[in-house]
Amino acid sequence: MSAGWIILTVHLYILAVCITVRSSPPEDPVTCASSGKSNGSTNCTITNSYGAFPDRSTCRAGEVVFPTSEEEIISAVAAATKAGRKMKVATRYSHSIPKLVCPDGDDGLLISTKYLNRVIKVDNGSRTMVVQGGVTLRQVIEEGAKAGLVLPYTPYWWGLTMGGLMATGAHGSSLWGRGSSIHDYAESITMVTPSSAQDGYAKVRVINSSHPDFNATKVSLGVLGVVTQVTLKLEAMFKRSVTYSVRNDSNLGEEAAAFGKKHEFADITWYPSQRKAVYRIDDRVPLNTSGNGLFNFIPFRSTLSVGLAVIRSAEEEQESNKDSQGKCNGGWLVTKTLLTAAFGLSNNGVLFTGYPVIGYQNRLQSSGTCLDSPQDNWVTACPWDPKVKGEFFHQTTFSVGLTVVAGFIRDVQKLVDLDPEALCVTDLYNGILMRYVKASPAYLGKEEDAMDFDITYYRSKDPKTPRLHEEVLEEIEQMAMFKYGALPHWGKNRNVAFVGAIGKYKRAADFLSVKDAYDPSGLFSSQWTDSVLGLRDGLTVASDGCALEGLCICSEDSHCAPSKGYFCRPGRVYTDARVCSTRSAGYSSIIQTQGNGEGMRSH
Ligand SMILES: Cc1cc2nc3c(=O)[nH]c(=O)nc-3n(C[C@H](O)[C@H](O)[C@H](O)COP(=O)(O)OP(=O)(O)OC[C@H]3O[C@@H](n4cnc5c(N)ncnc54)[C@H](O)[C@@H]3O)c2cc1C
Ligand SMILES: *[C@@H]1O[C@H](CO)[C@@H](O)[C@H](O)[C@H]1NC(C)=O
Ligand SMILES: *[C@@H]1O[C@H](CO)[C@@H](O)[C@H](O)[C@H]1NC(C)=O
Ligand SMILES: *[C@@H]1O[C@H](CO)[C@@H](O)[C@H](O)[C@H]1NC(C)=O
Ligand SMILES: *[C@@H]1O[C@H](CO)[C@@H](O)[C@H](O)[C@H]1NC(C)=O
Ligand SMILES: *[C@@H]1O[C@H](CO)[C@@H](O)[C@H](O)[C@H]1NC(C)=O
Ligand SMILES: *[C@@H]1O[C@H](CO)[C@@H](O)[C@H](O)[C@H]1NC(C)=O
Ligand SMILES: *[C@@H]1O[C@H](CO)[C@@H](O)[C@H](O)[C@H]1NC(C)=O
Repeated sequence: MSAGWIILTVHLYILAVCITVRSSPPEDPVTCASSGKSNGSTNCTITNSYGAFPDRSTCRAGEVVFPTSEEEIISAVAAATKAGRKMKVATRYSHSIPKLVCPDGDDGLLISTKYLNRVIKVDNGSRTMVVQGGVTLRQVIEEGAKAGLVLPYTPYWWGLTMGGLMATGAHGSSLWGRGSSIHDYAESITMVTPSSAQDGYAKVRVINSSHPDFNATKVSLGVLGVVTQVTLKLEAMFKRSVTYSVRNDSNLGEEAAAFGKKHEFADITWYPSQRKAVYRIDDRVPLNTSGNGLFNFIPFRSTLSVGLAVIRSAEEEQESNKDSQGKCNGGWLVTKTLLTAAFGLSNNGVLFTGYPVIGYQNRLQSSGTCLDSPQDNWVTACPWDPKVKGEFFHQTTFSVGLTVVAGFIRDVQKLVDLDPEALCVTDLYNGILMRYVKASPAYLGKEEDAMDFDITYYRSKDPKTPRLHEEVLEEIEQMAMFKYGALPHWGKNRNVAFVGAIGKYKRAADFLSVKDAYDPSGLFSSQWTDSVLGLRDGLTVASDGCALEGLCICSEDSHCAPSKGYFCRPGRVYTDARVCSTRSAGYSSIIQTQGNGEGMRSH
């Protein structure tokens, strides 16, 4: 990529996120062949917000319904139970990457929570809020703030729904209080599950914190029934003070765990090939501290479609030319641009004039203005919206226990030492986001205090085309999951991240007992959820090119792309890994001997 091309790209990137025009909102993930795609349609397909599942299959459903009340959900669940029909809950945007939302077969029923989206009660005496299952995080934040209430820690993206984010254990970043997972702020969960004929084939279950099933139902992968209502514990409005501080990453391993104990809202964005980390120094300040800051995260803003297309084309060109240096240069400029713009922080809602940015919690905790739009056009969109040419990526997201996270970080740094440019491939997607999550009582929640790593990287539109430096990300993925026993984010990841995952949860068997009690015929389960829960095989497949998309760990060259020079090779730092690499066979063993030595980092 020429210098001129880079500069054009970056200018367009800046332009793309700075111009605000009306944008088109993400489409409904459900499409049906019969007309009038609301309130009951047949012969449907469902996808996720990126328009592609890990195996790129199309998910079909016989019918979708859009209930507006618990009564309508009861009748939908009862009818499907009586008919022995598979069911799944679908949400307004369908943000999960894995195939959690797919019912098996062609005839399943999708129960959409698109119109189950009301905040029922906000009580600033008990500091609780009662919401329906399809309410978005944005609504919780907005309605809470009106009553002077906030959730202390949330995911960073407005578009998630209460039902979906709890089902997948979604979180923000904190080791304080009950930690950063929203499900640990649930006080009561109302669920509609299948039931016997005597019960009319459906049952409403109210599970509060003294109910014996409480810890099973908080993180459910959607297999227990329909969450219709959640009571959340909030707290009084507060203010925080945010400063991003750039440091080299020499001591990142040593500092990572300690940093989260020092700052309540800490996180770290790591650019391994730039050998740089951005520490978010973020703490509570007294309510009377002046400041009305706002966080409108730049990558979640409406972005000009033409800019997105240019950036994507540039990356496709770098991929086909194997232009590592181009990726590094482009990534470096994107990082610099984002840092200069404080990632979208402003001191008063408009301008960034310097750190610290002080403001109310509800204005800083989460964002997503690209969701806004009353009007349909293609001029701007969320950067990953599949209806425009834009971002298309894999996400590898897992949490590594704080007690071993230093070793994991040092292992990644060893990989960077062996191949300094390889992890530039993450820079265009704003590096590796590292967040703190606390051990949770939920059976499928985090087992221990941990650091969550969110890694986003290029995905080819062609599943058979290998990626530049894919061997490094494959090695990191396997190293995290198998050497460091990391837990996968249930709503993200490629299939290989789930291999053996359920075995890492001490209470998995207790979760399965509750599942059997609530849905004995497995109507809310699918082949995918059964595989994830260890009830059957099918997480991976062995086929030509399967390792390229994380559908298998390669065990032979045909699982990679031998005709394009990618062969199945051992990892260089974690030698048990098997990755698709362009290295020749003999070279790997030489590197291994070097790579295992200490003192590889010369700085
Ligand atoms: C831009 C972006 C930013 C993100 N940021 C974060 C982040 O900061 N932190 C984080 O942890 N994750 C984040 N995620 C991932 C996200 O948390 C998960 O993908 C998410 O939980 C999905 O929520 P959803 O409402 O879209 O649910 P879906 O993906 O539609 O559903 C997930 C599962 O829950 C089930 N389900 C949904 N609603 C119900 C219900 N009412 N009752 C029963 N089952 C139900 C579905 O059937 C499905 O099995 C992000 C994703 C995107 C796209
Ligand atoms: C579906 O139902 C909701 C709630 O009653 C309503 O707002 C919406 O307009 C309906 N859609 C159609 C296409 O009828
Ligand atoms: C469902 O729709 C597809 C096209 O999307 C069509 O080919 C098929 O015949 C339809 N099936 C039924 C049962 O209507
Ligand atoms: C709580 O609600 C009452 C009544 O609506 C309101 O007067 C009061 O300001 C609220 N408290 C806060 C902190 O907003
Ligand atoms: C939970 O519900 C039961 C039954 O309604 C009730 O007796 C109990 O007090 C509730 N517990 C809490 C903590 O609200
Ligand atoms: C849920 O887990 C918490 C923490 O381990 C425990 O205190 C509580 O008793 C559990 N609740 C139930 C109903 O088992
Ligand atoms: C904030 O309030 C505290 C008392 O509640 C007071 O001591 C302090 O001076 C106030 N600070 C500002 C900046 O007004
Ligand atoms: C990294 O920063 C530390 C201080 O934070 C410093 O001691 C060290 O020399 C720096 N390393 C490099 C390579 O700049």
